[in-house]
Amino acid sequence: MSPTYDFAGQVALVTGAAMGMGLATARALAQSGASVVLADIDGALAAGEAKRIVAEGGRAIGVACDVAVNQRGVWACMKHELRVMRSQGSGAIVNCSSLGGLVGLPGCASYHGTKHAVLGMTKSAAVEYGG
Ligand SMILES: NC(=O)c1ccc[n+]([C@@H]2O[C@H](COP(=O)([O-])OP(=O)(O)OC[C@H]3O[C@@H](n4cnc5c(N)ncnc54)[C@H](O)[C@@H]3O)[C@@H](O)[C@H]2O)c1
Repeated sequence: MSPTYDFAGQVALVTGAAMGMGLATARALAQSGASVVLADIDGALAAGEAKRIVAEGGRAIGVACDVAVNQRGVWACMKHELRVMRSQGSGAIVNCSSLGGLVGLPGCASYHGTKHAVLGMTKSAAVEYGG
């Protein structure tokens, strides 16, 4: 069974949206009715993918954006997202961790450390701001 989602009338901001999982997420949100902002350090690629979504009937723009990646990028995004969400009284954040946020592997301390941090920041923010 495939669940269907209706994001009509809602805005979705996707970082790292010019390729990979970010692009797949942005396209799925647009296909479900959201107006999507594709933000990426490669602004030209993001703009091109946004144009493709618009040509397919969706609503999207592409913008250049440098979040700095992994732990600091997620922290910086949540800082600004929560400000908007608190003032408007609603919103949802989906952060991207990894299997590396749950386990340890030899030679992966830096990546896995940041991905564990993403889970910790997300859980703490959810408890702090959920209400
Ligand atoms: N691909 C996997 O198998 C996998 C598995 C687990 C977790 N993840 C996580 O999913 C996320 C996306 O992974 P992916 O494989 O789709 O990556 P990808 O390399 O395919 O795409 C990453 C995108 O982020 C953009 N980007 C890079 N630095 C940026 C910055 N400073 N500011 C803004 N945008 C920036 C790139 O231009 C690119 O468009 C990452 O957080 C990754 O750790 C991926």
